[in-house]
Amino acid sequence: ASHIADDLTHVLYTDAQIQARLAEMAVELDEVYKDKNVLMIGVLNGAVMVMADLSRHMTSHVENDWMAISSYGSGTQSSGVVRILKDLNTDIHDRHVLVVEDIIDTGLTLSYLISNLLSREPASLEVMTMFRKPDAANNDVEVKYVGFDIPNEFVVGYGLDFAGKYRNLRDVGTLAPHVYS
Ligand code: PRP
Ligand code: MN
Ligand code: MG
Repeated sequence: ASHIADDLTHVLYTDAQIQARLAEMAVELDEVYKDKNVLMIGVLNGAVMVMADLSRHMTSHVENDWMAISSYGSGTQSSGVVRILKDLNTDIHDRHVLVVEDIIDTGLTLSYLISNLLSREPASLEVMTMFRKPDAANNDVEVKYVGFDIPNEFVVGYGLDFAGKYRNLRDVGTLAPHVYS
């Protein structure tokens, strides 16, 4: 039987490296958010793994909610059009909010999300992402907590997909060319 890990040419970060980094970040976040009952907002679908792992590395009280927004069509380029497909279940007015993302590429998704969430007047709003690509610098989005800055390569695993697949890979790496053809 084929193994999805065989489709990677190069592993950028292993499961162990990702978990170690999350554990470090959790210590910092616990300190910042102790007694604040932080609401972590995950962006579906990519952020599912980060949300589950980061929130379990934390030892303070957290709540979790989810938003689904569409900015990409079937291709790998942003369409520039952002829509809310699923809104929060929680009123974030006066809440301490931490947006949780798997990756920031162009920053377009986040830019839209931040202005949308700020209009709801949270007590505070910060962003955590597991990975960030260099193009994110072109969009003016402030990201306080970054797991790893990575090169501008197409990567999959740990929530990151190619055509909906590979999210369940524990490691993160680049896809072999034969997968595209
Ligand atoms: C991916 C990723 C981020 C966004 C980053 O989500 O999970 O949410 O793109 O790209 P940007 O910085 O250029 O906006 P995607 O739209 O592919 O949906 P998914 O999470 O369901 O894979
Ligand atoms: Mn996403
Ligand atoms: Mg995607």
